[in-house]
Amino acid sequence: MAGTLPILDLQELQGSSSSENLREACEKWGCFRLVNHGVPVKLMSEMKSVVGELFDLPIDVKRRNVDVLSGSGYVALSSKNPLYEALGLYDMGSAAAVHKFCDQLAASPQHRETILSYAEAIHGVAMQVAAKMAESLGVVGRSDDGAGLFEGWPCQFRINKYHFQPETVGSPGVQIHTDSGFLTLLQEDESVGGLEVMDPSDAGYIPVDPVPGSFLVNLGDLATVWSNGKLRNVKHRVQCKEAAVRISIATFLLGPPRDTVVEPPPAFVDDVHPRLYRPISYDGFRELRRVTDKHAGEALQLLQGPPPAASMDQI
Ligand code: OGA
Ligand code: NI
Repeated sequence: MAGTLPILDLQELQGSSSSENLREACEKWGCFRLVNHGVPVKLMSEMKSVVGELFDLPIDVKRRNVDVLSGSGYVALSSKNPLYEALGLYDMGSAAAVHKFCDQLAASPQHRETILSYAEAIHGVAMQVAAKMAESLGVVGRSDDGAGLFEGWPCQFRINKYHFQPETVGSPGVQIHTDSGFLTLLQEDESVGGLEVMDPSDAGYIPVDPVPGSFLVNLGDLATVWSNGKLRNVKHRVQCKEAAVRISIATFLLGPPRDTVVEPPPAFVDDVHPRLYRPISYDGFRELRRVTDKHAGEALQLLQGPPPAASMDQI
């Protein structure tokens, strides 16, 4: 039985001490629909139009969007990915980094204001969801509200444009993958669908229909490492369903600050649940996925057991 994607209400979660439904969604599904999250619908739709206009900029302007990690800035249409284009930045939790992104793209004052407001609002939601997730698993943070656990974790921002064509209907827009980081908030295109997630019994993909005004939350590989295997890194893909432009806005809470290794909180490790994965930083893990070309969760297996080779240990 596939079941239906869980829907969680952030205000309700904030107001209640029990978050069993959140825990279950994170362990069984690795994804859920988030409603009542506090980001105004008007800001979401303004951001969507700003994103459309950013992609309409001349290619030489878009190419100025370069950032700290390969792939965190502009990704042009290519022969490998002829339908997919992206713009982004490595840490939208930093206002200076968001300003730099706006400078690179010569954003108008109105665009800049929308991007800054959106970044601030969505970063806040990502932190609240992460804290609530930790709480639902019995992990408490330094300030007992869980938020301290994720302080300073970089939050990558990426806007995606899919140039779907009549001849590409039925083919993938994004191949099957897991997200590499901890958790992803996705503002999907409100009218062009195509996102599909692996159902909880690993039996097949379930189409996720867009719900305007909501976010889709996905957990990535780092959530599985952090939770010592408790949280599900959900596989997903985007299928081209119709010949239309599809825009999505993704925010990835990646993992601990650069060069810090992911440590499962003590609540996840005991005699019955020995530590499953070798310590690794987010950057190291991203590099491991890249060099091994394992993008759908298989890279986690490489972190199990003794290090396979001295060189791999360095990654
Ligand atoms: C991603 C992703 C889905 C989408 O960027 O990792 O899965 O709908 N995007 O764009
Ligand atoms: Ni993804």
